[in-house]
Amino acid sequence: MKYTVVLTADFPSIATELLAPHFDVIAHPTEHGRSEEDMITILAEADAAITLLQDPITRNVLEANPNLRCVSNFAVGYNNIDVDAARELGVVVTNTPGVLTEATADLTLALILAITRRIVEGDDEMRTLGRCEWEPLKLLGASLQGKRLGIIGMGRIGTAVATRARAFGMEVIGVRSGESLDELLATSDIVSVHAPLTRETHHLLNATTLAKMKRGAYVINTARGAIVDENALCDALESGQLRGAGLDVYEFEPEVNPRLLRMKNVVILPHIGSATEEARNAMARIAATNVLLFLRGKEPLHRVV
Ligand code: GLV
Repeated sequence: MKYTVVLTADFPSIATELLAPHFDVIAHPTEHGRSEEDMITILAEADAAITLLQDPITRNVLEANPNLRCVSNFAVGYNNIDVDAARELGVVVTNTPGVLTEATADLTLALILAITRRIVEGDDEMRTLGRCEWEPLKLLGASLQGKRLGIIGMGRIGTAVATRARAFGMEVIGVRSGESLDELLATSDIVSVHAPLTRETHHLLNATTLAKMKRGAYVINTARGAIVDENALCDALESGQLRGAGLDVYEFEPEVNPRLLRMKNVVILPHIGSATEEARNAMARIAATNVLLFLRGKEPLHRVV
């Protein structure tokens, strides 16, 4: 019997190249905001699936598709998957760590530089004016040299961000998730989030913790939107408690808080932390290899359940 592997999006071609010689591969073009019912339908024939970080792999989805034995998430984060339900139902869950660390750390620095040096505002001005006017007081930002970067989540990505920040002359203070944040919040000029989204980290930055930050500091988030209470973040940006924010992720993706869209002191990107050809190809290779190994009765490369 030939196993069926469902791909819930169009992935880099290496995924199909690795899987198609051995299994029936069914690819579904990416649709945004898939519901549980959508997932139940597209996974109906799947023995294994490569899934997106926004695909809801809930208990209902797993129970409705008992043939599905392996969920290979095309991401390092797996908060879209009910891992307790997967464990109980004997479904293997895998992810793609390591290969997107550098890409995500690079994008974090890009956001730090973009927001502190007002890159997007400058680009907008050039396009609006159609000329380059030098003025002593125009678009003044903040320098990084000697500033303190507070990293919430000193795992692979947080550590790679720290290395880059030190090269810009920054001092770095980091905490692993769960440790006390107070000193980091009170002393950092920029706070950058690199923790996984869990029950413990949900709304870790909220009205209370944002109020503990230095007035005029910046928040950067390339991890998961719901670690930050987006409404409280907007309040802090509007009141001047925060000087700016650089965001790649949002609390209710694919939605973004409309207040953020109106603010000049935020740079907002569409969740592209791992979006380099190198990282995405490597993620596809790992996600497909996880499935291949599992369906051949071997241990996947990166198993989380
Ligand atoms: C991206 O957000 C990932 O978790 O890989």
